[in-house]
Amino acid sequence: MHMPFALNQIDAELAIIDRELLRRSIRSVDTPCGTEIQIGGKPLLAFCSNDYLGLANHPKLIAALSEGARRFGTGSGASHLISGHHAIHDELEAKLASTQAGAIPNARALFFSTGYLANISAITALSLIGKSKTSIYSAALNHASLIDGVRLARGQGSVDLHIFDHHHLAGLEDKLRNDLTPFKLIVTDGVFSMDGDLAPVQELLHLANQYDALLMIDDAHGFGVLGKHGYGILEDQEVCSDRIIYMGTLGKAAGLNGAFVCAHEKIIAWLIQKARPYIYSTASSPALAFAVLRSVSLIEGELGQELRARLHSNIALWKEGSIFIRWNRLKSDTAIQPIVVGSNATALQLARALDQLGYWIPAIRPPTVPKEMARLRMTLSAAHTKEQIQGLCKVLSDLETSLPK
Ligand SMILES: Cc1ncc(COP(=O)(O)O)c(C=O)c1O
Repeated sequence: MHMPFALNQIDAELAIIDRELLRRSIRSVDTPCGTEIQIGGKPLLAFCSNDYLGLANHPKLIAALSEGARRFGTGSGASHLISGHHAIHDELEAKLASTQAGAIPNARALFFSTGYLANISAITALSLIGKSKTSIYSAALNHASLIDGVRLARGQGSVDLHIFDHHHLAGLEDKLRNDLTPFKLIVTDGVFSMDGDLAPVQELLHLANQYDALLMIDDAHGFGVLGKHGYGILEDQEVCSDRIIYMGTLGKAAGLNGAFVCAHEKIIAWLIQKARPYIYSTASSPALAFAVLRSVSLIEGELGQELRARLHSNIALWKEGSIFIRWNRLKSDTAIQPIVVGSNATALQLARALDQLGYWIPAIRPPTVPKEMARLRMTLSAAHTKEQIQGLCKVLSDLETSLPK
């Protein structure tokens, strides 16, 4: 018997991935999400999760998820449009909409099981608006889920795609100025997930107003963290418009799982009709919706404010302590603090050396980041202690002098 063609081919192609130092692998964590974790019995200090407020293992959310399961059961039983949408989902959506009400008139929210699904749902559905093709303007460093949303929308035959360079608004405007398409959609990360910097939301909104476009902002790394109440980048940048479509995730700062799209109620009404990943997928459990509701209340309340203050002082501490590092530290004021080292080999070497010293910061390589821009994507949390951050600064400084160039 021959080995199936596909299995042979996979062997050959994985060998190429290995040669290019691009093999991805799964590491299984034995302990709950936190700063001090264990992998295979080995203790490590983690500087890589998106649990920015340290809520992923918080006693109040553990209690909420347990209470949610007791009150509402564990499964929704069906998709939202069959019988899986429970009253607690409504309550959660109203709460999520209230977080963006200052930024989006007539705001309504739709709860999704992941941010990836929320993004591909929104983009594929929006691109079906109008009889002619939609012009999508996508920021060059957008997250894969936005890129995949655009790819799917192009597969529907409903899109002309324009990619604009990072922060290059003049280039974007040139393209918009010459575009006669009635419906234009600008799509961007709010906090760029691999770089940590913010999209220029006010300027983008200005362009959206001027050229009659909608503006979709993926605030996966801003919700919970940015703004006085943690409502995210729109609160932080003080913008308000019915042109905005906001996507926030609930698996990062909110410490659970899921995501939401918030927009003018007419846009949400459209998504309910047209967003296939929403329509044809089982609703997240009502127990989760109950726990997310609790998490949003924590985020906007006193605890959230305290945790955000702690996170911001940790970011300041890191920036101060890492000033001597000569590797390219990208300019970022958020919890995402990347160190760009260039080659895949150097990034892997550094990640391995850190691992041996008890630190977990994975190497991020193409295609997640551009070629020759491999990096350590370091993330900070309110849960990190001063000593942990200072320890990491010291270790990186030692490594920089000891690693062969
Ligand atoms: C910018 C951005 N958007 C969307 C997502 C997807 O969200 P989720 O993990 O909830 O699917 C992520 C990360 O996972 C992200 O970093």
